[in-house]
Amino acid sequence: MAKTEVDLSTIPLGKTVTIKWRGKPVFIKHRTQEEIDDANGVNLKSLPDPQDDAARVQQPEWLVVVGICTHLGCVPTSDSGDYGGWYCPCHGSHYDVSGRIRKGPAPLNMEIPEYVIEEDKLTVG
Ligand code: FES
Repeated sequence: MAKTEVDLSTIPLGKTVTIKWRGKPVFIKHRTQEEIDDANGVNLKSLPDPQDDAARVQQPEWLVVVGICTHLGCVPTSDSGDYGGWYCPCHGSHYDVSGRIRKGPAPLNMEIPEYVIEEDKLTVG
């Protein structure tokens, strides 16, 4: 299966980039300390799909998610929405900085692909 490599040193703190992996968008978010704290400060009971941020990342500063809305498959817009993560314009789902669904019709958090981070190199797949 095809793997995709990304040089993480090219992604500034606070920025999100989109890459293609097996024909799908994958979002890579270089999270600030404030965003990490925000992701960890959420009451899990308030989440439609309760999942700890720590279970969704390998390194707190890097969030890697498949950029497909879990409602009907649109591609959400990065760095937007009510929770500072993503907003899906198709039917109004809001995802947080951990890629977790917070509001709207999507039932599940955005999926985490298989990946490995070695120093500044991210390999997805
Ligand atoms: Fe994203 Fe419907 S496809 S909200």
